[in-house]
Amino acid sequence: MNKKIAILTSGGDSPGMNNAIRGIVKTANLHQIKTYLVYEGFKGLTENKIKLSSEIDVDSYLAKGGTFIGSSRYLEFKNPDVRKKAAQNLKDQEIDSLIVIGGNGSYAGAQLLHDLGLKVIAIPGTIDNDISSSDYTIGFNTALKTIIDSVDQIRDTMDSMRMVALIEVMGHGAGDLALYSGLATGAEIIVTNSHRKSVREIIAIVKDQIENKSKKSVLGIVSEFIYDDIKLVAKEIQKELGINSRGIVVGYAQRGGVPTALERINSTLFGISAVENLIEGKSGIALGFKNGEIISIPIQKALEEKAFAKEEENKIVAKYNKLNQS
Ligand code: F6P
Repeated sequence: MNKKIAILTSGGDSPGMNNAIRGIVKTANLHQIKTYLVYEGFKGLTENKIKLSSEIDVDSYLAKGGTFIGSSRYLEFKNPDVRKKAAQNLKDQEIDSLIVIGGNGSYAGAQLLHDLGLKVIAIPGTIDNDISSSDYTIGFNTALKTIIDSVDQIRDTMDSMRMVALIEVMGHGAGDLALYSGLATGAEIIVTNSHRKSVREIIAIVKDQIENKSKKSVLGIVSEFIYDDIKLVAKEIQKELGINSRGIVVGYAQRGGVPTALERINSTLFGISAVENLIEGKSGIALGFKNGEIISIPIQKALEEKAFAKEEENKIVAKYNKLNQS
């Protein structure tokens, strides 16, 4: 195998990406393989922003969120000429292997480079947890913790002031962040793409919780992109029930922050495994966690699998909603 591996992070950054890069660089070092850092994702690859990693102390980013090599969303990569240029930039430096850390869009880019003859391994990195070939994606655990910390704090003040809060979280169409943060914080309402609620339904739940369940406050966790403006939904609740209500968007805070212990460990394991797979001559595969073990499947197959099965999500929400009725 070639003695040179390039690494890039692509799409929305996520805490733990730095740990994966560290795992790759240090494992490659053990095998006398040179690693190259591609700055700013596929855009940087096309613009030839590629640097040897040896001058960088990868350990110094171990406890930092984001990705120290930068990332981008680069739709131009769909253009075959752009991709050819990107692949050529690697070939010019005699780099024939690439590890891509990112979400679904990044997997698509990784597959296209594999099709051009490069050896490519994809690692799931996105706070959305929307790669169904893996139980876990890098960043999800930290984002969940960030959301839970915020929601717990919001609960303190909502309880004190007897208020209602609808809290919008990210997910890009996937409901995992909303679902699991809702479960963990005891939210009275959870709304995800596959478990939508009309404003009337939300108002009915709020009324029931306040009037019949003696709740001091009511919290709803809502996936992004479901309501045009969460603040307007809160206003409607306030108008209808006369209870002080707020719509709160957690926003980009949930994408940054110090990676959790689990994130650091899993990401490092992904990094180690990616290099080992390249050494074994594998290419065109995506790594994932299934039942606590690292697995690999063809990137193409990972792209074809549906995002988080709706039925499964609905079952969890249905069970959880029963708790709120007691
Ligand atoms: O994919 C990660 C993510 O944070 C999504 O949850 C969110 O929809 C998106 O990125 C926001 O990124 P951008 O600001 O680039 O649209």
